[in-house]
Amino acid sequence: MLLLTFLIPSLFVLLPTDALDNGLALTPPMGWLHWQRFRCVTDCVQFPDDCISEKLFQVMADRMAEDGYLEAGYEYVIMDDCWLSSERDSDGRLQADPDRFPSGIKALADYVHDKGLKLGIYEDYGTNTCAGYPGSLDHLEIDANTFAEWGIDYLKFDGCNVVADEAMEQGHLEMASYLNQTGRPIVFSCEFPLYRGDAANYSVAIEACNLWRNYHDIEDSWDSLTSIVNYFKDNQEKFASVAGPGHWNDPDMLLIGNYGLSYEQSKAQMTIWTILASPLLMSVDLRTIKPEFRDILLNPHALNISQDPLGLQGHVHKTIDNIDVWMRRISPVAGEQFSLAVGFVSNRKDGYPYRLEFTLESLLDLEYPGAYVLMDVFGDTEDILVRSIDTLEVRVKPTGAVLWHLVLQSF
Ligand SMILES: *[C@@H]1O[C@H](CO)[C@@H](O)[C@H](O)[C@H]1NC(C)=O
Ligand SMILES: *[C@@H]1O[C@H](CO)[C@@H](O)[C@H](O)[C@H]1NC(C)=O
Ligand SMILES: *[C@@H]1O[C@H](CO)[C@@H](O)[C@H](O)[C@H]1NC(C)=O
Repeated sequence: MLLLTFLIPSLFVLLPTDALDNGLALTPPMGWLHWQRFRCVTDCVQFPDDCISEKLFQVMADRMAEDGYLEAGYEYVIMDDCWLSSERDSDGRLQADPDRFPSGIKALADYVHDKGLKLGIYEDYGTNTCAGYPGSLDHLEIDANTFAEWGIDYLKFDGCNVVADEAMEQGHLEMASYLNQTGRPIVFSCEFPLYRGDAANYSVAIEACNLWRNYHDIEDSWDSLTSIVNYFKDNQEKFASVAGPGHWNDPDMLLIGNYGLSYEQSKAQMTIWTILASPLLMSVDLRTIKPEFRDILLNPHALNISQDPLGLQGHVHKTIDNIDVWMRRISPVAGEQFSLAVGFVSNRKDGYPYRLEFTLESLLDLEYPGAYVLMDVFGDTEDILVRSIDTLEVRVKPTGAVLWHLVLQSF
């Protein structure tokens, strides 16, 4: 018989009292964001299937609703830069490019909502967006109102072309306040910490934003991915201390299914992102994604770990023979003991599955005498019951990962 309790030990109740309270993103947001795969293609004559247009978002919404992504939890369809017209309208309001979005954003929001999905949009705190379209500076209130009237559910707010970097924190608090005054719950995704670097005020990030980018844009390569992961590893205590339900660090989009990551590297990204309690924002062509990559994105155990309601961000517990051992505490909890996600991510390049042997007690410095059900998230082995003193082994492929879901049993 299981004797599990879902009480969180008081040690971990460190929720800041002034955190953004819009009731959203209580677990890391999941969705699809166009930038990594589709960038700023605006020529719909030459590239009708790839250009940033209402058709692209409608087609991706169809795929999300019909191919299992929505059911798995991926609910936000998010436009990035390049949806805008080059001018505001005569009333000073933003407008979509009329050729590429002939029905307008409100109609696109209706389309997406009819599928049971939510619509995200992109703007920038500066004079112009990164791609040069009109920015929100001096228009924060009117833009917040426009987004709410259109039925927008998520705003990604960039930081290109900002006149005074040191005013960004205050500016984002203002934008959060205007979004709140619209009365429409809108997830607020910020980027100022990335632009402010070491000067970023993370108290403001928690107060203004549901999620925030900490570091450079991800590019479609393992090198880019590891540069971001290294930055998170170098700051892991600080970043873990500011993450929690409603407010998350964002290491940027999932590359899975595109050109730059192998199958093993894709499992590694999913492993690290789930342990970091990161937003899971796919950016892949859902019309042509290969089934093995789709299976990684839809893996139920990986998503279970990602969406754990405690919202505790994990970290690298130790590194053995150039294999990072990642750990995240998850529910169910019994007394002071947590269930665990443990990820083995190899930075090795020697061409064979490298073997590690250990007990959970020694690997994770556990003092738990009971047992766990061990599930190999991307493997095909049967679930087994293990104690922390049992000798276990794992084999990790070069630049690949093994992810274990360890569910606490009673003792
Ligand atoms: C606005 O902020 C208040 C106070 O934090 C909160 O209770 C309310 O839910 C927020 N409304 C929206 C739409 O975000
Ligand atoms: C960060 O912002 C908070 C809340 O706005 C403020 O109280 C604090 O002084 C700021 N910290 C720094 C280092 O500027
Ligand atoms: C994850 O799995 C655990 C154990 O099977 C279960 O108790 C929990 O409700 C699941 N959580 C989510 C978010 O699916």
